Amino acid sequence: MSTLVRTARPEDVFQDLFRTHETDQTGSKYRKRLAQVAVTNGKSLIIDFDDLISFDPALARSLVGNPDDYITYATSAATAQMRVEDPEYAEHVGKIFARFRRLPERTALRKIEGELIRGPGSHCPFCKQSTSFELIQEQSKFKNTQEARIQERPEDLPPGQLPRYLDIRLEDDLVDSARPGDRVSVTSIVRAEKQTVGERGRLRTFNIYLDANFVDVVGKETEVVEITPEDEKQILEASRDPWVQRKLVMSLAPSIYGYEDVKEGILYLLFGGTAKHLPDGVNIRGDENVLLIGDPGTAKSQLLQYVSRIAPRGLYTSGRGTTAAGLTAAVLREKTGGMILEAGALVLADKGVACIDELDKMRPDDRVAIHEALEQQTVSVAKGGIVATLNARAAVLAAANPSLGRYEPHRNVSENINLPVTILSRFDLIFIIKDQPEPDYDSRMSEHILALHRSKTSPETAPFSPEFLRKYISFAKRISPVLTPEAVTELRDFYLKMRSKGGEEAAVAITPRQLEALVRISEARARAFLRENVTVEDAKSAIRIMTVSLSDVGVDVKTGAMDIDVIMTGKPRSLRDSFQRVIETVAEMERETGTVEETVLIAALVDKEKMEEREARRLIGQLIKEGILYSPKPGRLKRTAG
Ligand SMILES: Nc1ncnc2c1ncn2[C@@H]1O[C@H](COP(=O)(O)OP(=O)(O)OP(=O)(O)O)[C@@H](O)[C@H]1O
Ligand SMILES: [Mg+2]
Repeated sequence: MSTLVRTARPEDVFQDLFRTHETDQTGSKYRKRLAQVAVTNGKSLIIDFDDLISFDPALARSLVGNPDDYITYATSAATAQMRVEDPEYAEHVGKIFARFRRLPERTALRKIEGELIRGPGSHCPFCKQSTSFELIQEQSKFKNTQEARIQERPEDLPPGQLPRYLDIRLEDDLVDSARPGDRVSVTSIVRAEKQTVGERGRLRTFNIYLDANFVDVVGKETEVVEITPEDEKQILEASRDPWVQRKLVMSLAPSIYGYEDVKEGILYLLFGGTAKHLPDGVNIRGDENVLLIGDPGTAKSQLLQYVSRIAPRGLYTSGRGTTAAGLTAAVLREKTGGMILEAGALVLADKGVACIDELDKMRPDDRVAIHEALEQQTVSVAKGGIVATLNARAAVLAAANPSLGRYEPHRNVSENINLPVTILSRFDLIFIIKDQPEPDYDSRMSEHILALHRSKTSPETAPFSPEFLRKYISFAKRISPVLTPEAVTELRDFYLKMRSKGGEEAAVAITPRQLEALVRISEARARAFLRENVTVEDAKSAIRIMTVSLSDVGVDVKTGAMDIDVIMTGKPRSLRDSFQRVIETVAEMERETGTVEETVLIAALVDKEKMEEREARRLIGQLIKEGILYSPKPGRLKRTAG
């Protein structure tokens, strides 16, 4: 009779599973796991739901149908088996929790609704009556609990919706099993509890929360893009084309006209270099950061949104941010009075690409925290009793407008943009997109845009579809290309040449940051070809794109020489020299007269230093603004220090 089989106690069936499932010479799968639990001082046995289904489908169904009871049965079975495995340890911990993972049915956060709720209110586990408890401290046992909040993944978000979130309760060893920004799959029971106001006031509405059985931190390393063997064949075939890299660039945002160099830079950002973890604990980022500074209406936002869609794990946000957490993180006060940590865009984009539009308009708090996020790829918070360091290993593609609305060619980058040089220097590539009327280009671009509006498809036929591009990129990211000796020589020679060029004029032309950027870009190009090694061609291409970017921003507008100091210190060398000359003149005159009459100073600069009067006035104005000079009396000047 089949009913006889059913009469087996669920505890015993669970214990059978633990004892016998997947047994080899060294024991069964779960006995090995239990031994591991004892060694690592663990408190829970993790059970793969698949095993339960193949072992006893009826039991698996019962578990889903009545999780409260069946988790209890499984827990007693795990504890009983631990008593067999390691009696001493079982005695020591008292209880081994059964935790289930990888249930076949998953519910998206957005789909969690009323019917999934089990057991509102607090029941007494013995008499099953709904009661309210009183705390008797001496007779109570206390355990660790934690409230966390899970939020929808950005890529699951329906257009135009705010991300939903749910509170989740963690107990015992689940506490701290995930960190902010982690992607998790949670096995849990949906519960509701009466909302209360103050001590007594009970509302007629319920709060939903998840009572967690297991928190599986997923998708940290594994890619979210699925690649079938068929895809793999296509990818490998495409990669054999010597023009594959050009084709990839052409497939990137085909609806946006031109910008070949910018698109090439973005392509390298999508592939990325490899992160290096040195034995002494130093990490060097592999992610590339790219900044677009451009006039209004030059398709920057369009490009960013495109990239956030195509990038595996892409995220688009504005510098202003939509939540209190902004770009980095924020400590907020909860309804109940506690402090909680909310992760910002860069933390949420961990292991992906963060597209930040309007970077120049970010909040002052972010301005400070983003320094660390861009280079060390972490976000540290120490506020309101919360001290934490969150991972923000994201490649950043940012866009910003020039501070004066339009890019002023006779000013240098840092004068053109409302961002400190310390932030600028953290971008591997900076591109300036100027909107200059050019009859030829304009006519081709207008044709392009009009054709696009007429046919609603891209006029240029892109070699690869966006889906294919996405798959290609995530496939390529599995490769960690290594620099060949020839590539090393190429990069080193370029670096040394640039350094020595600067040397003649006593200005540093290029810094180690650029050298690291060159390595990353070369590695990214090797990935685009699915190559294991970085060749001389990769190095040459990296040098070319870097030169384009540097000449966009780094050209000393006065001498025409390349000068990375523009990015690094905010002033080109020639300008710093002019400032120096003004300061020296003031110092000389101070020695004679104490304070310096402005008109006399200007005359002296025009006369001796061969400056133009307008230039002299501008330099003086700038020095006053920077607090190096001040006027003790109208029309008179003095150095602040000295
Ligand atoms: N090169 C181009 N090819 C195709 N479309 C373009 C190009 N340049 C601009 N456009 C179009 O111009 C419009 C404005 O672009 P977008 O909003 O991205 O500008 P933006 O650079 O972000 O400007 P802002 O700095 O003011 O935010 C878009 O509809 C875009 O498609
Ligand atoms: Mg824009």
